Amino acid sequence: MKRIAILGTGSFAPEKILTNADLEKMVDTTDEWITQRTGIKERHISDKDTPTSVLAVKAAERALAAATVNAGDLDFIICGTVTPDMIFPSMACLVQAKLGATKAVAFDIAAGCTGFIYGMELARSLITADPSRKVLLIGAEELTKITDWTDRSSCVLFGDGAGAVVLAQVDEDRGILSTFLGADGNLGDLIYQPGGGSLHPASHETVDGKMHVIKMAGNRVFPHAVRKMGEAATRALEAAGVPQDQLDLLIPHQANFRIIDAIGRQLNLPMEKVYVNIDRYGNTSSASIPIALDEAVRNGRITPGKHVMLVAFGAGLTWGAVLMRW
Ligand code: ACO
Repeated sequence: MKRIAILGTGSFAPEKILTNADLEKMVDTTDEWITQRTGIKERHISDKDTPTSVLAVKAAERALAAATVNAGDLDFIICGTVTPDMIFPSMACLVQAKLGATKAVAFDIAAGCTGFIYGMELARSLITADPSRKVLLIGAEELTKITDWTDRSSCVLFGDGAGAVVLAQVDEDRGILSTFLGADGNLGDLIYQPGGGSLHPASHETVDGKMHVIKMAGNRVFPHAVRKMGEAATRALEAAGVPQDQLDLLIPHQANFRIIDAIGRQLNLPMEKVYVNIDRYGNTSSASIPIALDEAVRNGRITPGKHVMLVAFGAGLTWGAVLMRW
């Protein structure tokens, strides 16, 4: 049996931590509100001189070491990110140079918090087309660099970090069993960053109008997130013919503990089968799933033979799920 599988995982988060108590001094909020409404207690924050690619490279180096793959043997580097170092060149090209992965084709995908899941399907397709390929997939973000620190409804949510995996074909019955992706561009205005693109190029007006930060209608996003992640996970289970009760671990995008809890209930999963680390990281967008996956592998929550579901939701709107046998 040949399948496309993750050979190794890695993650990295900046050392500096911003706690809810710190936020209490910055905006009109409380630790109690943030904890009860989101489950977040603290988040990692990059300093101003450290761009996202630095976090991406650290996570990638750890994933390559875990996979025992040399950077020079990579065929593709794909970065899921909405906070690349700059609009172009892509962050993946910057990472390629820093890793010395001279053979690798490199590009970014922008699918909001679903970037890593979209990347998994892309990696699967690329390896299916040529089974000799090795793909490095990274989810890396510095959302705190595009956060409106005066908007209490969003600034308490976000954190920085990166996670990475190396994928290749294996001659074993483990790896990706099914994927499911979706998008609805009609709901694009629920989470977006209006300034800096061709519609509103950077100008004094866009800076003064706070157009370079995240705009999010959080309470309108919430029900879509629960419904679409639940649907995506169910469709991926059906496509693989794996019954719900054989799912061992759900790793959902860490956007809000109440969303995670609702998806767990929708899938009839006890909370011990749902991975939660939002309390320590906040929402790190496309980095949240690979960070959680790396933690779960390293702390023994994922062991060979386990059925693991990754499921995400984000700007676009986009959503998707990947079911794997580890
Ligand atoms: N501290 C104290 N009060 C606050 C804060 C805060 N930090 N933020 C909002 N409030 C207040 C509001 O002003 C409002 O007060 P009011 O009733 O007097 O008007 C009240 O709390 C309730 O506000 P809601 O927005 O309805 O709160 P809700 O329970 O929906 O929680 C949240 C807000 C946490 C944003 C939630 O809606 C959420 O998590 N949504 C989903 C976000 C998400 O999943 N995003 C997707 C990915 S992001 C990406 O792709 C980059």
